[in-house]
Amino acid sequence: MKRDFLAITDFSKEEIEEVFKLASDMKGRKIEPKPLEGKSVACIFHKSSLRTRVSFEVGISQLGGGSLYITKNEIELGKRESIYDAAKCLSRYVGMIVIRTFSHKDVEDLARHADVPVINALTDLLHPCQVLGDIFSVIEKKGKVDDLTVAYLGDGNNVTNSWLVASTVFPFELRIGTAPGLEPNKEIFENAKKANISKIVLTHDPQEAIKDADVVYTDVWASMGQKDLVEEREKLLRDFQINQKLLSYAKKDCLVMHCLPAERGREITDEVMDGPNSIVFDQAENRLHIQKAIMVKVLS
Ligand code: CP
Ligand code: NVA
Repeated sequence: MKRDFLAITDFSKEEIEEVFKLASDMKGRKIEPKPLEGKSVACIFHKSSLRTRVSFEVGISQLGGGSLYITKNEIELGKRESIYDAAKCLSRYVGMIVIRTFSHKDVEDLARHADVPVINALTDLLHPCQVLGDIFSVIEKKGKVDDLTVAYLGDGNNVTNSWLVASTVFPFELRIGTAPGLEPNKEIFENAKKANISKIVLTHDPQEAIKDADVVYTDVWASMGQKDLVEEREKLLRDFQINQKLLSYAKKDCLVMHCLPAERGREITDEVMDGPNSIVFDQAENRLHIQKAIMVKVLS
């Protein structure tokens, strides 16, 4: 049966550990598998992307395959033709589909009808490649993620939702600090609490969220598709900006993380982003290694 990667829980914990090992080996150039030799990968992007697009395309080339960058001018799911028809045709040409779009359901439908693996490169609901790479980065820097305190401050979005999904696999404390009305997806939040693997805290108090945290994470206050809300969000989230003063409540050796792109001066200051705790560019680099490992895993 073909495998997809639409959410972190599409892999078991053991499989995630295998993915981490593979990513680490590939990063250290201990192994250079070429499972994409002779294969093409359709990379469908309906939203902008620097990191995800470039790291996927470079990763595909390093794994021996060829990538096709496809925008909504070529494929607009469900508009020019049905998702079913697009999935069936693409499956006759390519060995894998990577997709970034708005609706998570469209990606689920594409995966259901495609005969080749589908990888979620971000939807409005989830960004699993990002957070799997982030956990890999935390383990690389801290030796573990288990039992750490991860404070996510800002808008409850696709990245926050993916951290909640990750909290059902790894045991850590996830503290989400956001303004009323900007909480993450309710169902994903309730499921994470119910899973009872990690301690989940939701607070509207930024200091309570960040206090003694090992990892301090933020993301843009208005995601792609919501940029018209940025001024309104700025008013709501002002107190959640990661600046030196707020950071002083976290552990001294905490990791500062941001999936990027950052709106410097808004959700994070230059001082913090360029400061000694920041690992944002290591985090960005690890997208390449983790996605190569995810591709190898879904094809194996
Ligand atoms: N973090 C991330 O996914 O970046 P891009 O939107 O540039 O791909
Ligand atoms: N939450 C952001 C993440 C970008 C990588 C967005 O969806 O725009």
